[in-house]
Amino acid sequence: MQRLVEPAEIQNRVRTLGQQLSQTYHDQPLTVLGVLTGSMLFMADLVREITVPHRMGVVHASSYRGKSTVGGELRVGMDLLPDIRGRDVLVIDDIFDTGRTLERLVQALDAYHPRSIKTAVLLLKEGRSMVSFNPDYFCFRIPDVFVIGYGLDYNDDYRHLPFIGSLEPHEI
Ligand code: IMP
Ligand code: MG
Repeated sequence: MQRLVEPAEIQNRVRTLGQQLSQTYHDQPLTVLGVLTGSMLFMADLVREITVPHRMGVVHASSYRGKSTVGGELRVGMDLLPDIRGRDVLVIDDIFDTGRTLERLVQALDAYHPRSIKTAVLLLKEGRSMVSFNPDYFCFRIPDVFVIGYGLDYNDDYRHLPFIGSLEPHEI
């Protein structure tokens, strides 16, 4: 395993993003919506750096990869979605890879009549997008390698690691 982003770098960048969001969403009905499971650590740290009042919620998305590193069938679950009518929604995910997860979620959330929807991801993987939009905010741009840690998993392992690492081809 190779270490790509250290905890202190994550903390600095998340703090800066939190400050930026605090200005952007000042006096607005913000709901920060985390995409389970990968966004848990990022979301927990980010909301503590957003100094304006806001609500938190979660939705679920998974692409059933298991031991594969490429996405399979995409499933989204809205069971836990709080009321977002008239609210400014910021969707938080761990990584923007092909972009299909966020594309699908934004489309699905639109039906609940939020006032606005923006997206923020921890990682933006280079040269992988298959959709026509970019996330509104991202913390780190990374090369096209398979990463784990700080919420990201390989076959459900490694999510708890406080840093972001990449797995070598022989490890996956
Ligand atoms: P997308 O729909 O292709 O943008 O993929 C987004 C989802 O795929 C993320 O929320 C992750 O769960 C997963 N994913 C994509 N790339 C990686 C990676 O390098 N490591 C771990 N999970 C990944
Ligand atoms: Mg995920």
